[in-house]
Amino acid sequence: MPLDLDRIRAQFPALALEDDGRPRVYLDNPAGTQVPRHVLDRMRDYLVHTNANADGVFRTSAATDALLEEAHRAVADLLNAPSWREVVFGQNMTTLTFAFSRSLGREMRPGDEILVTRMDHDANVAPWLMLAEDLGLTVKWLPFDPTTYRYDLTALDDLLSERTRLAAINYASNALGTINDVKTIGEKVHAAGGWMYVDAVQYTPHAPTDVQALGCDFLVCSAYKFFGPHQGMLWGKEALLERLTAYKVRPASDALPVKFETGTLSHEGLAGTLGAVEYLAWVGATMAAEHHGAYAHFPERRRHVHAAMRAIADYERPLTARLVAGLEAIPGLTIHGITDPAHFDERVPTVSFTLEGRHPREVARRLGEENLFVWDGDYYAYEVIRRLGLDACGGMVRVGPCHYNTAGEIDRLVAAVAALAG
Ligand SMILES: Cc1ncc(COP(=O)(O)O)c(C=O)c1O
Repeated sequence: MPLDLDRIRAQFPALALEDDGRPRVYLDNPAGTQVPRHVLDRMRDYLVHTNANADGVFRTSAATDALLEEAHRAVADLLNAPSWREVVFGQNMTTLTFAFSRSLGREMRPGDEILVTRMDHDANVAPWLMLAEDLGLTVKWLPFDPTTYRYDLTALDDLLSERTRLAAINYASNALGTINDVKTIGEKVHAAGGWMYVDAVQYTPHAPTDVQALGCDFLVCSAYKFFGPHQGMLWGKEALLERLTAYKVRPASDALPVKFETGTLSHEGLAGTLGAVEYLAWVGATMAAEHHGAYAHFPERRRHVHAAMRAIADYERPLTARLVAGLEAIPGLTIHGITDPAHFDERVPTVSFTLEGRHPREVARRLGEENLFVWDGDYYAYEVIRRLGLDACGGMVRVGPCHYNTAGEIDRLVAAVAALAG
């Protein structure tokens, strides 16, 4: 059964909002998604009924402990992690990565090499550049081909050596939409003796994420990109997390995952993240039965979440095709990303473009006036915009649908862009 958009949209109160009679069209999803009732209910319920600090010996604190563990278990389900103890919560992906880079740096020596890319969001670049600066590491850059919008993997073998300690790689680009073959890249990085640190922030909202199938060492994502609250998560292989030194206060436990979760967590954020996974499980249970068989060996919630993500990917592919075809037909418009429908399984629905004679900020503002929410600029994909030579002219306009967007909304966006071009 395909996704039932009426039932899905009914879960998201924000999708029903209108301003001066004009419905809101949220195409700013790569910057942050709207939240379903499951998230709102979980957060409210936590704050009203069980708000307390962790580790106390009374009712609300015990309930808090149970909820925090359940949120870790939920994210383990989302990522198909072997253990909930491998899930570390933190403020956001950027903060987690800066903090975690210090722990990884304890394992590195001057002259060691790290690999970063020209396609990544700067949150998966700057922490590693600063670590390299602090420790005297050598930085290698993996380029992407600005005509195919894919990593130039012919360059990879030459960039890896026996001194490679880490590769920081993007699963899906927040600017180009490209889905990268992180499994194959990871195999090469591992063969060289390095660790694979995957930024899955833009991938997790669109397709099933499976850390075991990927074989990576660390993977980061953010709940506010997959229908949850503003909250980040890092997954790491248990043995590695055990081995690494955490920067933490002395009385804090050395047990996983607590040793990396410095200070008091956002309990309501974890409650909301649990709600986001429960929402996806609801989608999987009610609208993705045809995909259950593929995950028959998973426990129930995990099976439902992964089936939901497959159904979401199936729904989003024709939506992407509609968006790309509509935009491509507009004179003077250039899409910077994969446009061949035969390769739409290598992209998420995020589509960035430039329009001749129009500054991206002006395009985004004019669309905003029509309650069509899109992004403009570099969205911190700093190297991408420079590589495309668009840094001096305002970057690109980014349209980012997700599974709650409709074909009608895509048509409205395309018509509005066409009117601007005309
Ligand atoms: C690909 C990618 N990585 C990392 C980030 C940073 O995530 P956070 O806001 O959780 O730090 C973003 C945010 O847009 C992103 O798109």
